Amino acid sequence: MPRGFFITFEGLDGSGKSTQIRSLAEWLENLHEGPGAPWTRGTKNSGPAPVLTRQPGGTAAGDRIRALMLDSRSAGLAPKTELALMFADRAQAIAEVIQPALDQGRIVLCDRFTDSTEAYQGGGRELGSEIVLELHRLICGDLQPDLTLMLLPPLESSLARARRRNERSLAQTGRDEGRFEREHDEFHLRVWEKYREIAVREPARVTLIEGDLGIDEVHDRVVAAVAKLVA
Ligand code: TMP
Repeated sequence: MPRGFFITFEGLDGSGKSTQIRSLAEWLENLHEGPGAPWTRGTKNSGPAPVLTRQPGGTAAGDRIRALMLDSRSAGLAPKTELALMFADRAQAIAEVIQPALDQGRIVLCDRFTDSTEAYQGGGRELGSEIVLELHRLICGDLQPDLTLMLLPPLESSLARARRRNERSLAQTGRDEGRFEREHDEFHLRVWEKYREIAVREPARVTLIEGDLGIDEVHDRVVAAVAKLVA
């Protein structure tokens, strides 16, 4: 059985990743079966749908790491603690979700992967890229996304959106999961710059979608990149 496709989404909080992942999953599910298109469902409800997952989270242990990471009560976490937690989460996700799905020939759509660690802990927390890439090599081996959709709308609009969403969720659930949204603007600028650096370094893997684009336009670009990959 040929290995499936591993597609990741990256970007700042509030960049619209979740919306785009959902609409890409729907697009993949509605594709008509054709020769050489083993990733499709064919007609609806036949064949495997793409597997959707996210980091941190996506497994029982990962969800607990996610809660610890995002809770604003975890304010004292040292940068290297965050780094280690992210790779602990990733190791579990690879073992439990990602690798088994790829081995079954499925498409995996993952909301964040190692680029997030490089951008947030390497860039934002200033640990640098090297330690992140070395840990990736040790823990994830040669597992790399076949395609990364990197959504980089202007920094201000992403941040405003993420902070609004966090306030809404705090009001609704009483849980404050905005530890990263609360970081100062220079932190987010460093994350943003590290993302761009990754895109420039790895143009064959990363499709960079920049600027203040509408949801449909971003979707069209996402679909164009995915169609090229799986064709
Ligand atoms: P999100 O999944 O809702 O986008 O939020 C996850 C948060 O965790 C986001 O602020 C980025 C942060 N994060 C890291 O700092 N490092 C990582 O490696 C990952 C996967 C996420």
